[in-house]
Amino acid sequence: MSDTTSNQMWGGRFAAGPDAIMEAINASIGFDKRLAAQDIAGSRAHAAMLAATGIVEPNDAEAMREGLLTVLSEIEGGEFAFSPALEDIHMNVEARLKEIMGPAAGRLHTARSRNDQVATDFKLWVRDQLDAAAEGLEALIRALLEQAEAGADWVMPGFTHLQTAQPVTWGHHMMAYVEMFGRDLSRVRDARKRMNECPLGSAALAGTGFPIDRDMTAEALGFDRPTANSLDAVSDRDFALEFLSVASISAMHLSRFAEELVIWSSAQFRFVTLSDRFSTGSSIMPQKKNPDAAELIRAKIGRIFGANVALMTVMKGLPLAYSKDMQEDKEQVFDAADNWLLSLAAMQGMVGDMTANRAALETAAASGFSTATDLADWLVRELNLPFRDAHHVTGSLVAKAEAQGCDLPDLPLAEMQSVHDGITEAVFDVLGVHNSVASRVSYGGTAPQRVREQIARWKELLP
Ligand code: ARG
Repeated sequence: MSDTTSNQMWGGRFAAGPDAIMEAINASIGFDKRLAAQDIAGSRAHAAMLAATGIVEPNDAEAMREGLLTVLSEIEGGEFAFSPALEDIHMNVEARLKEIMGPAAGRLHTARSRNDQVATDFKLWVRDQLDAAAEGLEALIRALLEQAEAGADWVMPGFTHLQTAQPVTWGHHMMAYVEMFGRDLSRVRDARKRMNECPLGSAALAGTGFPIDRDMTAEALGFDRPTANSLDAVSDRDFALEFLSVASISAMHLSRFAEELVIWSSAQFRFVTLSDRFSTGSSIMPQKKNPDAAELIRAKIGRIFGANVALMTVMKGLPLAYSKDMQEDKEQVFDAADNWLLSLAAMQGMVGDMTANRAALETAAASGFSTATDLADWLVRELNLPFRDAHHVTGSLVAKAEAQGCDLPDLPLAEMQSVHDGITEAVFDVLGVHNSVASRVSYGGTAPQRVREQIARWKELLP
């Protein structure tokens, strides 16, 4: 390296260093330093492999592996001076290694490129996030199972169009979210399995002539196998995109539940009371207890889904193999991961702490003619009416009750018989909300016994 102003890693053919603006747009060290631990793990595996295959001297490889640990502890201790002139984490680490062990550090980059290096580092990072997300989802599911178990037979209104539809059980409602987060968990596991192939050794794009052992590095880094096509391996960001799509769907589920918590904790509903630990106050209105965590979770989908769209847009239209566009992958994924994991933790905290107000749920369940369908079903079963006719008769009864300002169970029998003379005293059995939910025993239905079976199934399924 004759010219001291050109880049010490690639400046051999350059007579001048980059313009400040060039450096500003090019450098990724400001954010990819988050990949330091993964970068060093990848380099240590690579160094061990280079020695095992006789590509570098064992002494040099040992010095690299030791020196890399020193670099890691410097970074973790906050003593490392990151340099934008060295662009990214890969070159910052390597340059420091050279200071520590001397010029033999330059042999570390034999048979590899930053292209396979960054693909490997980033995969390792995303894999860790998937593992953390799996834990977060499992913890949230456990919190929901506890809520479901406590109130497996509590009744509440079930809604369609946010209008009272039919009574359901609190346990059933909680278990609906267990199903959603359970699907997220299964998507996390699928994505992890599919991504777990090691790009290291693909080199710049075409592989290498050095006699490397890709199985060895793949195994050392916990991958199932090496990637099978070097062009694909250095230009693939599907793993990041899958992470973002799994995160987007999960954040959408979180957002839906958050919306329910916002509604349920309002003075008008009072279905749940959120704990002080997961609420905030107002600086002007002393009576306020706001569901800020739920609102923020509801909003997080914006940036997470935004990251998904952003990276899809970065990747579309890129020719094989690596293009610098791909450096724009990281910040989006970092931000989405941070916010998804935080949302999962906050939701778990809120669900774990919240109190369902059984009495308010039951009162609401019994209002709004919620058992009208039970009445129609009774007319079909007991009087053999075609369902359409039963629907019509019930509609007239609802109108009558509405006009009298009462609910269906409060309508006198004579009033009912004036609409259909076959109706008997026995009809009142099906108009109660507890009977209503207890009757819905179809598989997947809201009956407490069905809900308890699902709780037991999920407890078995969780690790
Ligand atoms: N900082 C780069 C990135 O994040 C590393 C790969 C650079 N490769 C290259 N051929 N310039 O994508």
